[in-house]
Amino acid sequence: MAEPRKILTVFGTRPEAIKLFPLVHALDADPRFDSRVCVSAQHRGMLDQVLAIADVVPHHDLDLMTPGQTLDALTARALVEIGRVLDAETPDWVVVQGDTTTVMAGAIAAYYRQIPVCHVEAGLRSGDIYHPWPEEVNRRVVGTFAALHCAPTDTARDALLKENTDPATVHVTGNTVIDALHWVSAKVEAEPGLVSGLADLETRFAGKRIIGMTSHRRENFGDGMQNIADAVKRIASRGDIAVIFPVHLNPNVHAVMNEQLAGLDNVALIEPLDYPHFARLLNIAELMLTDSGGVQEEAPALGKPVLVMRETTERPEGVAAGTAKLVGTDADTIVRETERLLDDPEAYSAMARAHNPFGDGLSAQRICDLLAR
Ligand code: UD1
Ligand code: UDP
Repeated sequence: MAEPRKILTVFGTRPEAIKLFPLVHALDADPRFDSRVCVSAQHRGMLDQVLAIADVVPHHDLDLMTPGQTLDALTARALVEIGRVLDAETPDWVVVQGDTTTVMAGAIAAYYRQIPVCHVEAGLRSGDIYHPWPEEVNRRVVGTFAALHCAPTDTARDALLKENTDPATVHVTGNTVIDALHWVSAKVEAEPGLVSGLADLETRFAGKRIIGMTSHRRENFGDGMQNIADAVKRIASRGDIAVIFPVHLNPNVHAVMNEQLAGLDNVALIEPLDYPHFARLLNIAELMLTDSGGVQEEAPALGKPVLVMRETTERPEGVAAGTAKLVGTDADTIVRETERLLDDPEAYSAMARAHNPFGDGLSAQRICDLLAR
């Protein structure tokens, strides 16, 4: 039997961990691979929540997060430190996912050593380098030299082909977020105690219609965040709803949201939820208000209408399927579209249909098979 291929999977933030743990599980279980994991720990607490639930123990933990880290410092440190791990491990492939600073730095470190890069969730494009910022450029950089592009959808594949990417290197695999969602749903079904942490809020808000919310986009810092907070305040003036808002640990989010929303009776500002609890929130919410990428993929899969507080999206599939709608960061628009969903049953049911444009939950295995070729 041939030597197993050494695959080094590199990630650093919560969404990368969620979208890569299914692949790490699949690689670990497959004798064709010697699977190694390196976390930059660009996130700390929010990354550790995922590692714990998915039972992933990294071989290398670079512990890079510093409070309020700048993009320059993080990029520089990630490049140097991931490079050191690559020199020690000399993998056959480096796998990265998505579009964060860790992804770009990890991919460049591999390129500097002429190690082939597999890019998971390749080909997402908004067409605007400042929305989302800096992610649009991060993923384009990786897209210029990855040896294997795992596009989640046909739209993503087409975007890569339009950029003259070698078609032989582009494969539509689906998005591993659906694998993760299936995995966590099955786990919660087997162990309902995993989501008991939301029970108090569910009791407190019994009889109210739940709106789930997340917000963290860098390009929304400043006026955008203020507008979002203002919209939530106005929505919360209704007695029939409750907003459950796990607040991202980025201080630029935390500061504004705590200042604007703390103390409102029907707004629960809570710590980031671990993945089982967040999946529970997706299930009990009537609709989601978000600027997150991953939530735009998960909510349609569960048939939850999602109002996207961004000007553009690199995930047009949810909009095309009718389950997601772009509402930007104008407070009047956010309030109007939320109230429309709450008060117009036809508008609601037109959006509340389960669609799975992002995958069938078998993406990790497809990626393994591509890596084994
Ligand atoms: C990062 C990614 C973004 C991704 C998001 C997912 C970049 C530039 N940004 O944004 O693409 O969508 O993660 O959530 O790669 N912090 C903590 N604990 C944590 C995580 C963050 O305290 O577990 C705080 C720290 O003060 C840290 C700050 O948040 O300095 C910013 O973290 P950073 O990873 O630089 O940016 P995010 O806004 O989290
Ligand atoms: N998520 C979570 N707990 C939370 C908020 C989000 O587990 O409190 C999950 C969510 O299900 C999704 C991912 O985190 O899979 C999205 O991460 P985030 O919004 O931080 O980043 P983005 O997807 O925008 O890059």
